[in-house]
Amino acid sequence: MTAKPRDIEKAAGVLRAGGLVAFPTETVYGLGANAEDSAAVARIFQAKGRPPSHPLIVHLGSAEHLADWVQDVPETGRLLAEHFWPGPLTLVLRRGPRVPLEATGGLETVAVRVPDHPVALALLSAFGGGVTAPSANRFGQVSPTTAHDVHMELGDAVDFVLDGGPCEVGVESTIVDVTGETPSILRPGGVTREDLEAVLGRPPAVQSTSVVRVPGQHPSHYAPRARVVLVEPEKVVAEAELAQELGHRVGVLLPPSFTDTPVKAHAVAPVPGSMVAYARGLYGFLRELDQRGCDLIVASLPVEEGLGLAIANRLRRAAGPRTTA
Ligand code: TXA
Ligand code: MG
Repeated sequence: MTAKPRDIEKAAGVLRAGGLVAFPTETVYGLGANAEDSAAVARIFQAKGRPPSHPLIVHLGSAEHLADWVQDVPETGRLLAEHFWPGPLTLVLRRGPRVPLEATGGLETVAVRVPDHPVALALLSAFGGGVTAPSANRFGQVSPTTAHDVHMELGDAVDFVLDGGPCEVGVESTIVDVTGETPSILRPGGVTREDLEAVLGRPPAVQSTSVVRVPGQHPSHYAPRARVVLVEPEKVVAEAELAQELGHRVGVLLPPSFTDTPVKAHAVAPVPGSMVAYARGLYGFLRELDQRGCDLIVASLPVEEGLGLAIANRLRRAAGPRTTA
């Protein structure tokens, strides 16, 4: 789905005027502002209710512009950009002077990516500069994968919403820090560890999810309102039915091998067998179970390879301890 040229022009005008535009990418919807406008960047944090120390991603229309935004591009960064852009990969590099510290949460590094979505690319091209954008959800909540989700999350806090239909990938970009000796995955996402290894010719380091490296890597994140509990796949049905009997309104992310099993629960979302389809649907399932009034979601982790690594990471975060920070 592509947006009308008139809407793209309007959205670029809103960015130029210091406003906020929500726009589709192949991963999730982003909440964008002119990356070079500190006041506009500050509005993103307000709209999301996000702590200002939590760094944002700068979106560019083309890899050709990368050198304008960073100090230098190491060989691994160049290689990964060449292979995966436009696409669901974010590179962490040393911050160039064009990037205000507001956008990096005060860090001397900056996260950059070129998204692979016709509407995002049309907006970035019409605007001409960099667009700093986090996912277009309230802080800590489930990321939006449709324009409708954005309206539900942010309402009037956003000046304009570009509708590009549902996001194809469905989980956020893979973030790779290329400032050190060994490229390091800070967040698994749409580009798999296996894809990265094939291009790098060696395995990237994988940041443990238990280590809070930047404030953004908070244990509870990507979380629906309902509490999420993770159990072994073969225990999902029994755990769900027990909790339902105990008086919970239970939502179930039902593993593919149990699709035909009847479950006595409040709501059931059957999980697709393909990891591509699961990633695409994950946030929609969590939103749907919330909307159906579930107070507890019982789920299991997929095998942590390919896109399963990103899905498992999001489910673990959704099940993480809730804090109000
Ligand atoms: O797919 C995506 O990446 C989406 C779309 C909209 O592009 N964006 C997204 O942004 O997920 P956000 O703000 O929800 O997550 C960006 C994460 C932050 O949580 C932070 O951990 C990490 O990127 N990050 C940003 N700048 C960083 C930096 N300089 N060093 C380390 N991590 C950084
Ligand atoms: Mg986010």
